[in-house]
Amino acid sequence: MASGKFYVTTPIYYVNDVPHLGHAYTTVAADVLARYHRANGDEVFFLTGTDEHGQKAEQAAKKAGREIQPYVDEKAEVFRALWKTLNISNDDFIRTTEPRHKAVVQEIMQALKEKGEIYEGSYEGWYCVPDERFWTEKDLKDGNCPECGRKVEQIKEKNFFFKMSKYREQLAEKIKSAVLEILPTSRKNEVLGFLAKDLGDLCISRPKSRLSWGIELPFDKEYVTYVWFDALANYISALGYPDGEKYKKFWPADLHLIGKDILTTHSVYWTTMLMALEIPLPKQIFAHGWWTVEGQKMSKSLGNSVSPEVAADAVGVDQFRYFLMREVPFGLDGDFSATALINRINVDLANNLGNLVSRVLTMVEKYRESKVPQLHIGKPMFLYHEPSFASYYAHMERREFSRALEEVIKLCDELNRYIVESEPWTLAKDPSKFQELDNVLYGAALGITLIGKMIHPFMPDSSEKLRIWLGLENWGFSHVGVLKPGTVVKAGKALFPRIDEKKAEEIKVLLAPQKPQSAPSEEMPQITFEDFMKVDLRTGVVVSAEAVPKSKKLVKVQVDLGTETRQIVAGIAEHYKPEVLVGKQVVVVANLKPAKLMGVDSFGMLLAANDGGKLVLAGTWEPVKGGLKVK
Ligand code: ME8
Ligand code: MG
Repeated sequence: MASGKFYVTTPIYYVNDVPHLGHAYTTVAADVLARYHRANGDEVFFLTGTDEHGQKAEQAAKKAGREIQPYVDEKAEVFRALWKTLNISNDDFIRTTEPRHKAVVQEIMQALKEKGEIYEGSYEGWYCVPDERFWTEKDLKDGNCPECGRKVEQIKEKNFFFKMSKYREQLAEKIKSAVLEILPTSRKNEVLGFLAKDLGDLCISRPKSRLSWGIELPFDKEYVTYVWFDALANYISALGYPDGEKYKKFWPADLHLIGKDILTTHSVYWTTMLMALEIPLPKQIFAHGWWTVEGQKMSKSLGNSVSPEVAADAVGVDQFRYFLMREVPFGLDGDFSATALINRINVDLANNLGNLVSRVLTMVEKYRESKVPQLHIGKPMFLYHEPSFASYYAHMERREFSRALEEVIKLCDELNRYIVESEPWTLAKDPSKFQELDNVLYGAALGITLIGKMIHPFMPDSSEKLRIWLGLENWGFSHVGVLKPGTVVKAGKALFPRIDEKKAEEIKVLLAPQKPQSAPSEEMPQITFEDFMKVDLRTGVVVSAEAVPKSKKLVKVQVDLGTETRQIVAGIAEHYKPEVLVGKQVVVVANLKPAKLMGVDSFGMLLAANDGGKLVLAGTWEPVKGGLKVK
C-alpha cells in the first residue's frame, strides 16, 4: 500500500451561481479520494475554493444591486457552508480575492513578462461573457459560443498575450508519454486532437475600461488579468508558491479533478502556463461527466438544478454521497432523478448493507453475549474478503468509484449468502457445533469490518458509526483483516433506514424539477425606477366573483379599489373557486390597457405567482383597504 503524498483539487467554483448537484459531484468525488488516501496512510492536501473575479461576478453583483466584494464574500460562504454540510474534508479553501492569491498571480504575470512569454498585441474577435472565453470567427457555432451556445460579443482592443502556441508540440508529447496523464482516455484523445490543430496565443488581459473586477497586471495599471489565468493559479497560490513549505511538499498536484466542460483550460492553458514558468506539470487531470436532471440539462433558466442541500437533507448526507458515486461510472454522463436516488438507497443501503450489519451484530449479541468469538483453525470460515478488497483497491486507484462500491455490494451479497447457507441459528441449537458457530460469526463480523472500511471514503459518518458498534479503535487500511476476538460489539439502530412510500413521495415533491412558465428575472432586461413607476399597482378587495361561462380558466371579479369598483377578468378558475375569492386582498395592475376576454371586458390584472403552473394570488401581509398605491 502506497504511502506518500496526495494533492487533489476541485475546480474553484464561480460565485455567481448557486451551488448545485454538479458542484457537489466534483467536490464529493475529491473528498472520497482525499479520505481514501488518508486511510492509506498518505499525507493529503485537498483544496477547493471559489473563483470570484471576472465579468460574471461583476454582472451578478450589479444585477443584485450590490457592492461586489461583500457580494462575493457572501456567495463564497454559501459554498463553504455546503461543503460543511456534505462532510467535505478539504484542507484549505482558496478565494481568488484573497491577498495571498493576488500576490502570486501578480508574481507569475511579472515573471512571464520578464521571460518574454507575454507580449502586447491587438485583439479582435468574439467573447463569451458567461464562459469568460475568447473565440475566433471560425470557432463560433451558428454565430454563438461553441461551448455553451450563448450569444458572443465582438471585441477589438489592445491586450497582452501569452505565447501559448509555442508549447503545442511539447505539450502533446508530455500528454502522449503520460508525464501528464489525462483521464478518461477519450478526454486525452480530445486534447490531443485539439493540439494537433493550430494553437493560437492566449489573450490574458482585460482593459479596466471594460472590466475592472480583477487582478491588476503588475506591468500595466490599465489592465486586469484574464479570469482564467487568475483562477488556474489557485492550485499553486494556495500552497504558498514559490517558497511555501506546502508548495515544496505537495506540488506537483497528483490530481486536478474537473468536469469535462473545463478540460481545455486545464489541460492546455494551465499546463502551458506552467511550462513557461518552468514549473512541473500536474500528474493527472481527470475530467468527469455531466449530470442532467430527468433528462434535461441543468440550468438556471430552466430552474431545474438540484440543490445538494435539499437532497442531502431529504435522504441523508451519506446516502446522497453514495448515490452520486455509485449511480454513474465516473467519467460518463449521468441523469439525476428522485426515483433513482430513492431506489439506490433502499436497494443497496437499507435492504442490503444496512440489513446485513444489523443481522450480524444481532447474532453476535444473541449467541455470544456481544463478544467477537474466536476463530477455530481448520474449520470453514468466510474468506471472500481478500479478493474483494484487492479489487476494491484497484478500482479506487483507477477512480472507478461506482465499481469500487459495486464490489462492496457484492461482498454484502456474498456474506448474506454465507450466513443463509451456514445457518447460524441451527448451529446455535447444537452444543457440539459451538466451534462452527464461532467460525461463522467471526467470519461474518470480519466481513462487515471490511465493509465498514471500504465505505469510509464514501460515507464517513455511517462508517464511523459502524466502527464504534464494532468496538474498533482504528479504521485504517493497514491491518485489513484484523478483528480481535473478545471485542465487545453493539447492535445499534439501522445504519440506513428504509425510505417508505410516504417518505418517498415527499422526497419526490421536494426534488421535483421546477418548470417555470415565465422567464426568470435573471434573463429579463433591467429597468429603471421610472420604468417601474409606470405600472400603477393598487391594493384591492374582491367584492364578488363568478365563473365566465364556457371558459375553463376565466373568472370575472369585481374589485374594490377605494374610489371605484373595478371589473377584472382573471385566468385563475383552475386554482381558485369564485366563492373563495370574495373578501380576498389582492394587488391589481390598475393602468393596464382594457381588454376583452371571451367577450367579457377586463380593466386590469390581478398579480399572481406562477409556481410551476400553479397560480397563487399576491396580496398584502396585513389587511388593508382597497386603492392604496403599491410600489
Ligand atoms: O468553470 N454536471 O466554475 P463553475 C457535473 N470557475 N459537474 C458539473 C455540472 C454538471 N451539470 N455543472 C457544474 C468554473 N459542474 C471555473 C473553474 S478552475 C481553476 C475554474 C462542476 O462554477 C464541474 O466540476 O462553472 C465543472 O467543471 C465545474 O462544476 C464548473 O464550475
Ligand atoms: Mg460553468
